[in-house]
Amino acid sequence: MAKGGAAMALALLAAAAALLCAVAALPRLEHPAKTDGSLSLLVVGDWGRKGMYNQSRVAEQMGRVGEELDIDFVVSTGDNFYETGLTGVDDHAFEQSFTDIYTAKSLQKPWYLVLGNHDYKGNALAQFSPVLRKIDSRFICMRSFIVNAEIADFFFIDTTPFQLKYWTHPKGNHYDWRGVAPREKYITNLLKDLDEAMKKSTAKWKIAVGHHTMRSVSHHGDTKELLQLLLPILKINGVDFYINGHDHCLEHISSRDSPIQYFTSGGGSRAWRGFFQPNEDSLKFFYDGQGFMSLQLHQDQADFIFYDVDGNILYRYSQWSLRKAYLPASYFAEE
Ligand SMILES: *[C@@H]1O[C@H](CO)[C@@H](O)[C@H](O)[C@H]1NC(C)=O
Repeated sequence: MAKGGAAMALALLAAAAALLCAVAALPRLEHPAKTDGSLSLLVVGDWGRKGMYNQSRVAEQMGRVGEELDIDFVVSTGDNFYETGLTGVDDHAFEQSFTDIYTAKSLQKPWYLVLGNHDYKGNALAQFSPVLRKIDSRFICMRSFIVNAEIADFFFIDTTPFQLKYWTHPKGNHYDWRGVAPREKYITNLLKDLDEAMKKSTAKWKIAVGHHTMRSVSHHGDTKELLQLLLPILKINGVDFYINGHDHCLEHISSRDSPIQYFTSGGGSRAWRGFFQPNEDSLKFFYDGQGFMSLQLHQDQADFIFYDVDGNILYRYSQWSLRKAYLPASYFAEE
């Protein structure tokens, strides 16, 4: 009897688990906008080097600009810890590259982080662990997730599994594919979840964040798999911006065949690759050195600024919202 009950409970659990898998949606966090409805944030990528390669100088300027813009949160585009991620939740690189570096008062806000390919070379799961959040509660890292920030929805996307060569030609690197393999199934599910979430989004701005480049004129260039698999979903759902790291530079590239804009903010530490390869899209700005980006969102306008290692403004870009403003019927009646 007890045995039968246990078997029954197990069967029920299995059924519940199957159901959960079938309706699994991306984790969703809420982040309130300011009282005036606007939102300010900083974006940095490719940074964790224990302060070396100007990481500390970039951090200091982020602190200053963060104060000036009264930022609401920070976004990391991945490669959070070099060269090979964290060894585990007790790896002191976490404090040495994060907690002890981004010490400014203005940076004591939530950090929303994706993983980069270097993070996958260590214990990838460690970065999702609540143990890290006990050490430093700012660190909010998940594989793919959504931040609803009222005026904007941010879609954080785990892009490392897309790159086929990491699977077929790991070149002596170990990638931590726990919870990811098999690749095809993971990508299919992720794209489906993203598409559904983007379709439901009613925010003024839709912003996708990933580690890998969509378009880049630097060392890594475009990411073929993202252009093929992810970009169509961003386009069809009217995503305004795709923001990434991976190339250690700052870039703004405009799509020639859609309104989408690509921003690379991967200048958090080691940079100066000395590489330039034009692509088919339209290059607006490219800086090969260290720095970071700020983004200020208003109902009708988005303002991007790139800064160098000394906090000098290198480039500004503003875009008016392409989404039609809601106009009451009476407005048309009176015309
Ligand atoms: C640090 O930044 C300065 C100013 O851009 C640059 O001259 C120097 O080469 C950088 N150091 C490193 C290690 O990249």
